[in-house]
Amino acid sequence: MKKVQFTETVLRDANQSLMATRLPYADYAEILPVMDQAGYYSVECWGGATFDSCLRYLNEDPWERLRNIRRQMPNTRLQMLLRGQNLLGYKHYHDDVVEKFVELSIKNGIDIIRIFDALNDFRNLGTALEATKKYATSRTIASGCISYTQSPVHTVDKYVEMCKELVRMGFDTLCLKDMAGTMSPFEAEHLIKGIKDAVGDIPVILHTHCTTGMAYMTLTKAIESGVDVIDTATSCFSNGTSQAATETLFYALQQYGIETDLNEKIINQVNDFFKPVKQKYIDSGLINPKSMATDSQALVYKVPGGMLSNMIANLKDMNAMDKFDEALVEIPAVRKDLGYPPLVTPLSQMVGNQAVTNVLVGERYKNISNEVKNYFRGEYGIAPAPVDPALEEKILGEGGKPVDCRIEDSKRTGEDFRNAKEALGELAESEEDLMSYICFPAQAEKFLKDRKAEREKKVIYTIEEA
Ligand code: CO
Repeated sequence: MKKVQFTETVLRDANQSLMATRLPYADYAEILPVMDQAGYYSVECWGGATFDSCLRYLNEDPWERLRNIRRQMPNTRLQMLLRGQNLLGYKHYHDDVVEKFVELSIKNGIDIIRIFDALNDFRNLGTALEATKKYATSRTIASGCISYTQSPVHTVDKYVEMCKELVRMGFDTLCLKDMAGTMSPFEAEHLIKGIKDAVGDIPVILHTHCTTGMAYMTLTKAIESGVDVIDTATSCFSNGTSQAATETLFYALQQYGIETDLNEKIINQVNDFFKPVKQKYIDSGLINPKSMATDSQALVYKVPGGMLSNMIANLKDMNAMDKFDEALVEIPAVRKDLGYPPLVTPLSQMVGNQAVTNVLVGERYKNISNEVKNYFRGEYGIAPAPVDPALEEKILGEGGKPVDCRIEDSKRTGEDFRNAKEALGELAESEEDLMSYICFPAQAEKFLKDRKAEREKKVIYTIEEA
């Protein structure tokens, strides 16, 4: 019998999508031993914005959170999302930092590392993949992930080629990451069939979002076409900008005669637990009702919903809403000039802002943002398709060539660790503390100072009590 497995996203992407990753560990600690019995393929619980949010807003040590989850869920594969050479942000880190980050992630409890690059420049996945293999335990899985987007150059054949390349590089599984939720059922069918035909037994995972309302249809078609694992969220944290609902897909799959490892009683118990948690954040205003709704604009305008609302806000700020239609036409034109990058952060902002500038100034690329200049210089990686040659020459000068970030910036140096040690002094008690600082210096330093102050307070109390 055909089998499909589930990755539960409530601890990472679902709460990142619906409530800006502000779910504290204490809110869900109690349910983890139950979730451990659910039969998930994996639980996505770390990476992405969780790390930043722990330090910046929740006064939590992200590493300690991971160790706690590990302790409470010994039987479940814990999964994280890693932006290749950028780790959790947008900066290009040295190889030694990437390697140490992966080593520490596995040491603190991660089993599956899903590695992607916003531009699908796979040179940016190599170091993280090598490190994953180097520090792998018997449970470790390196998942090669493709950022899905639509453009004239992003054909099924191109995606199949990318998958073959990821397999050649040595990834254990493949994931298609449709962050904007714009993959249609038709596209899912052709992609999954094409990929499965090309790569054989390697498990294929589909990650999508309900943003445009297509996710359930798309996942159903993907399942019919042979996908092995789907990403879903417990139903009270599903839909809108989040994933499709775990229990709903489980119910439908049963009627298809498709086997899953899920325990129906437990997945319902998980949802019952999270219902009041969600209500608390609706009441506090942290969950915006807009994020729970379906927004089909991305399908009409071919521009992700978040990018569109950003553009409207910008135009309103500048009293220029009369330029809306013009800006809407300019976005795909700028994207074409940039070689069709996937419209994800930070590319979505770069393309959107440049399009608005072009329209407001009344002359294309009279003003060019520094981000767009850096993009042409190659600082974000290689563009998916050739960029506009005239614009490239305007930015780089005649005969100018983009830099190769892999060669220029990635060498192992040790300097980041030396700098972190110097800056933190006795505040740093572990390699994990140093790593937090390297990734988010200001947030980590503040967190570590607070931690020290908190401990000193405790010592004083204990002495007084004694
Ligand atoms: Co996502």
